[in-house]
Amino acid sequence: MIRNRSIGRIAHVNLSQNILRKLHGARSDFVSNSDLLAGASVSSALVSAEIEALRRLGYDIESHPHLGCRLRGAPDRLMADDLLARMSNSVVGSRILVFQQTGSTNDVVARQGTDGVPEGLTVFAESQTAGRGRQGRVWQSPAGKGLWFSVLLRPSYGVVAAGRLTVAASVAVAGALTRAGGVDARIKWPNDITVGGRKIAGILTELHQPVGKPMFAVLGIGIDVNCAESDLPPDLRSIATSLSVETGAAHDRAALAAEVLRDLDAWYRLSAVDFDALITRWAELSATLGRHLSVRVGSETVEGFAQALDGDGALLVRRDNGRVERIVSGDVVKQRV
Ligand code: BTN
Repeated sequence: MIRNRSIGRIAHVNLSQNILRKLHGARSDFVSNSDLLAGASVSSALVSAEIEALRRLGYDIESHPHLGCRLRGAPDRLMADDLLARMSNSVVGSRILVFQQTGSTNDVVARQGTDGVPEGLTVFAESQTAGRGRQGRVWQSPAGKGLWFSVLLRPSYGVVAAGRLTVAASVAVAGALTRAGGVDARIKWPNDITVGGRKIAGILTELHQPVGKPMFAVLGIGIDVNCAESDLPPDLRSIATSLSVETGAAHDRAALAAEVLRDLDAWYRLSAVDFDALITRWAELSATLGRHLSVRVGSETVEGFAQALDGDGALLVRRDNGRVERIVSGDVVKQRV
């Protein structure tokens, strides 16, 4: 269970969120003292105290007697207020929690979903001790090096949700990595995001149907942001990568997280009304479509040409004999151009 904060703390939290929202919004320009106070219903002394508190947390805030304040830098630490300050009126990320460490954020969110918490709750962890991927694989989640988070969703489209949400998340993550990370991110069906053929992010969508309660989905996303080669598991180094390995620079995890959440919110909303638009975008970003490949499905291997994604996110593979197979879940084991 998540404990309620005291009323006094809520007022304080909103003030810091408010200040950060204005500072981020100004994009390193000054925010005047009167703008900082506007809508806060608190004294300027309280705003100054809050700015001091933010500095103690590691924010580099410059104060100027006439111009006001500007943000010169933020700590490399995920904080709920900071993330919330970068969001506006979205379902995804309407409520955000950050854990220093947890088992798996998917499990934290699943418990909240079972308790009836509204959709949009997003849980981040700086590190996970039991992060998992598809098919029971271990997902390494080193502290402070990536984005490990899960979102609670209650889609209107029922059991096809697993495929559709994975498609929405893939498009959001690939788009955000390309825009905010400066890499050419592609989607490898069903749930991988790759750069130069190596995996940089993965998506784990789990559906839950608690007895006598509405179905819900947990969308888990793991992005290797600032992992060094040595942080990647030795057996995966040739097939995995991170944003910092790709670009040779450290990246702002909070900014990237907000970019992904905002994109995910937009694609999630669209997925309910115009899934075809989502499929079109997915196809543009796909590293899978148009290739000849082998997909392992259980103990079977399907070989053929990846021709399309259907309305539920299943891959349509045309075998050499012309027969089209609809594959809901599997692993692409080989693919050629
Ligand atoms: C995969 O590539 O197989 C999916 C990886 C998903 C990892 C994320 S990290 C946050 C969330 N919590 C988990 O335990 N897994 C997902």
